[in-house]
Formats: sequence, C-alpha cells, structure tokens
Amino acid sequence: MPGDKSITHRALLVASLTGGRCRFTGALAAGDTRSTAAALRRLGIAVGPLGGGKAVTVAGAGLRPFRAADGALDCGNSGTTARLLLGLLAGHAFESQLTGDRSLRRRPMARVTEPLRAMGAAIRAADGERLPLAVRGGALAPLAWNSPVASAQVKTCLLLAGLVGGVPVSVTEPVISRDHTERLLRLLGVRVTVDGTTTSVEPVDALPAFDGDIPGDLSSAAYLLAAGVLAEAGEVVVKNVGVNPTRAGFLRVLERMGAPVELRDRWVSCGEPGATLVARPAPLTPAVVEADEIPSLVDEVPLLACLASRAEPGWTSVFRGVGELRVKESDRLALVASNLAALGVSARTEGDTLFVEGRPDPPRGRVVTAGDHRLAMAFAVLGTVPGAEVELDDARSVGISYPDFFRDLARVLHAS
Ligand code: S3P
Repeated sequence: MPGDKSITHRALLVASLTGGRCRFTGALAAGDTRSTAAALRRLGIAVGPLGGGKAVTVAGAGLRPFRAADGALDCGNSGTTARLLLGLLAGHAFESQLTGDRSLRRRPMARVTEPLRAMGAAIRAADGERLPLAVRGGALAPLAWNSPVASAQVKTCLLLAGLVGGVPVSVTEPVISRDHTERLLRLLGVRVTVDGTTTSVEPVDALPAFDGDIPGDLSSAAYLLAAGVLAEAGEVVVKNVGVNPTRAGFLRVLERMGAPVELRDRWVSCGEPGATLVARPAPLTPAVVEADEIPSLVDEVPLLACLASRAEPGWTSVFRGVGELRVKESDRLALVASNLAALGVSARTEGDTLFVEGRPDPPRGRVVTAGDHRLAMAFAVLGTVPGAEVELDDARSVGISYPDFFRDLARVLHAS
C-alpha cells in the first residue's frame, strides 16, 4: 500500500518544526499531501519532491519556522492541511491567508478557530467560520479545550499550536480519535499524556530531526480488502498496511459481519503497528455500528455501507452517530443513501443514523460522487460484485488519496 495520508501530513508538518534535515520513505504522493507540501514550500520550508519512489526530505527550521507567504495558501481539497496548518500559523506573528477548493470552502472551521482564538490568535473569516480566512498569530496562552467533536484534525491542530507557541495544551474529545500525532511526537521525545479521552502535550525547547518509513494507508487498503470479501473466489493479500487501533474500526466491523481479515507478519514503523492483511470471500451478516466506534472508521463508512448492501437480504445494517459525514469532502451521508437508492438498495437516514438493507440483486445504476474520492472508491468496489454495473459520474477524485486505485483494483480482480 502507498503511504498513510494522515501520517504523511503529520510527518511533513512536524518535520518542518525540527532542528534539521528529515528524510522519510513511503510518504503518500497524492493530491492532499501535495497540498501540504506546497503550502510548506510557500512558507519558506525546503520540502523535496513527493513521489517517484524516492524518500522525501524536509529541512526543519525550528519550532517557529515559517516566513510569511506571498498571497493565500491553497489547501486544495484537504481538510487536514487547512486545520493543521492553522494550528502552526497561530504561533507565527504575521498574517496568513488560507483558502481551498469549493468542497473545502464549505467545511466547518469553527471547531479549530474558536480554540485558537481562546489561545490568543486573531482569525478573520469572510463567510461564516469557513475558508477563506486570515490568521495572525503570536504569543499564545495555554489551553485546556473540550472539543464537542471527536476529531484528530482538531486535536492535532491544537497540540501543534501548543508546540509552536511553547505552551501546554490539552484536548478532551467525546471519544478518542486517531493518535498518529501523539505517536510521532513521543518518538521525538515530547511528553504526551493521555488520560481517558484527554490528550495533553508539554512544550519543548526543540524537536530533533528524524528519519522514518511511513506505513501504508489502511483507509485505502480497505477498498481492496472489501473487493476480496465481495469476490466469488480467491484471496486478496495487501502488504504494508498500518493497523493502528484508533484507526482500525473497519477491520473490527468486517469481523463482526463474518469476514475476518487475517493479519500476518506484524511490524512497527514510525511508532505505528502494521501488518500484511489477507481478505477472503465471505457471506456477510448485517452490521450494527455504534456512535463511539465511528471515529475509528470515519472514512470507511461509505465503504461499509456498500458492504452492508451485500449482507443477508432483508436485514438492515445500522450506523449510528454518523452526522460528521455531512461535513466531509461532500455530504457523504446524503450521497451514500441516495446513491445506494439509485442502485436499487433500500437505504435511508434518520437524524444521525444510517440504515442500509441487504439486497441480493447486483447493483446497477449511476453514482453521483460530487468529486469525493471516498465515494468514488466505495462505489467502484460495489461495482465489482458479479453482474453489477455501476457507473461513476467522475472518477478523477481518487487522485486525492489513492492515485493508483484503479490500477490496483484491476490487479486484485484479474490476478489468477
Ligand atoms: C484525519 C482525520 C479525520 C479523517 C480525515 C483525516 C486526520 O477527520 O476523516 O480523512 O488526518 O487527522 P476528522 O478529524 O475531521 O474526523
């Protein structure tokens, strides 16, 4: 698997705060991580090219490393770039402007602007608490924040603001979100404590340069594994996949649906556990996914919903507490339900709960992806069901997180 998107963003951003040249292999070269690399370059950080099978290099320039960019920083489609960068910029005493594509400009930023203002950053947004916005940072105050959403982007934004600002920060979330930042910071000697759902980071004087190998992306591997589960025969073996438990809810739900994924050859890299994953065809039972599981599989809900449509006919799978899907790259909740319905599946939402009924007939119809990479890949996988005919309105969005998705999917399907 190509590198993990979340970890690649973090490695690039944290490397810029170190005291020297960092070098890592396995970084994801895709639309979103290119947005982070490009923004860092505009802020004066020397970031080598991403991709081409080579290690990426970042010249760290200390805890407050940025120079003011000329013009707005474009975060593209990437919420992680926008929210994490805001945290870093909040510790810099000049004004920066952040913008993004149409999808990113509709996504909520109050979840990070509010706590950053509480730390002392001045933030102006032209149109509600959304991009484009301007941030002027400087001396920051310590923060103990109670976040209403379980979000690793919010948590990381604030922890990084604390590091750049030289102040302690703690963030309490309703449910613990993915902990990639905490693992990376611990590797660099930062004191990170976790007490229940409260994560705290102490300030440091400097961060050491680091090298590493970024694990492969479980969220991308999930599509290939799901294709293996839906296939009529064979097995799908996916090497180099991160299996961090705060991120691996997809594997736990698949197991409950009757399709356990085998983990072989376990390893650890960048403080992250990983393995080779093996999926095999299995008849699926319906799933009940509770709200407190959602943060560990938030990006896999569209795919799990597609799998649920292949579960035992007449039975309904339930996904509770999936309201956050409305503010992802698209309104994923509405689009998952309407696209499944367009393919002949009975699916509906009631408040923050999604219901999907199993249906034996192969799905047929056209899917509206609204430029959302995860919808394109989830429904492409549903289209691999024997007899299915699924047409995507636009498949280019896969370049956001998994540029070689269609090549790899074809390899999985046609290997003998
Ligand atoms: C991410 C966190 C999640 C996830 C996104 C990547 C991260 O978003 O959906 O794809 O790298 O921190 P939220 O923090 O908004 O839940």
